[in-house]
Amino acid sequence: MEKFKERVDKIIASTGLMSRKDAKRAAAERRIRLNGAVIKDTSAKATEEDELTLDGRKILYKRYTYIMMNKPKGYVCSTDDPSSPIVNELLDEALQRLPLFSIGRLDKDTTGLIILTNDGPLAHSLLSPSKHVEKSYEFELEDPFEDGYFELFESGVVLDDGYVCLPAKLTRLGERRGAITVCEGKYHQIKRMFESAGNRICTLKRISIGGVKLDEALNCAEYRPLTDEEAAALKGHF
Ligand code: URA
Repeated sequence: MEKFKERVDKIIASTGLMSRKDAKRAAAERRIRLNGAVIKDTSAKATEEDELTLDGRKILYKRYTYIMMNKPKGYVCSTDDPSSPIVNELLDEALQRLPLFSIGRLDKDTTGLIILTNDGPLAHSLLSPSKHVEKSYEFELEDPFEDGYFELFESGVVLDDGYVCLPAKLTRLGERRGAITVCEGKYHQIKRMFESAGNRICTLKRISIGGVKLDEALNCAEYRPLTDEEAAALKGHF
């Protein structure tokens, strides 16, 4: 398959080093080289494999960016609620310039794993209901965990709107604590599942998505790029 090509000014801007306008100016000043040759026109295109330099320094171009973040409470995953801070504000300046969005949202009061990317096709595929991508959460309940939940969640909880959930795997971790794995993503799904069971979620933390686990070394609000293995695991669902 032919490698994807991107304009040089867009590549440079995507690294956060400078704006596209400044990249054009740098090219006019003969500061940009593509595979050794000076380029004065930044509409020239390069692939991930080409050698692009600015002032003699290599520019590492990756078409897509994948970030794992341990989302803290109080932040939202989309711009729908302008009164709340958005998770992108926790990223450094260069990453904030990229059009990154979260693959599947967490509620404002939910913590844990979110994956931020600009890879629209991958996000679309992972969120597709037909893919049944597994997501696991740890939770704390208001009332004690009941034995009856195992059968109820395995057979398919009926939500307040009549929707019958696909079977979910439950594990008890304490008197009021547990873990759950679901393979769909309805609005407020876990909270509504426990409401249907006559209980209430007090805290909710996502710990994995499609085989990618939250890195325990990440404190709340910290993030890091996905490793190549983690990105490959996500792409395995494509
Ligand atoms: N289910 C919920 O109820 N909330 C979340 O944030 C994620 C899943």
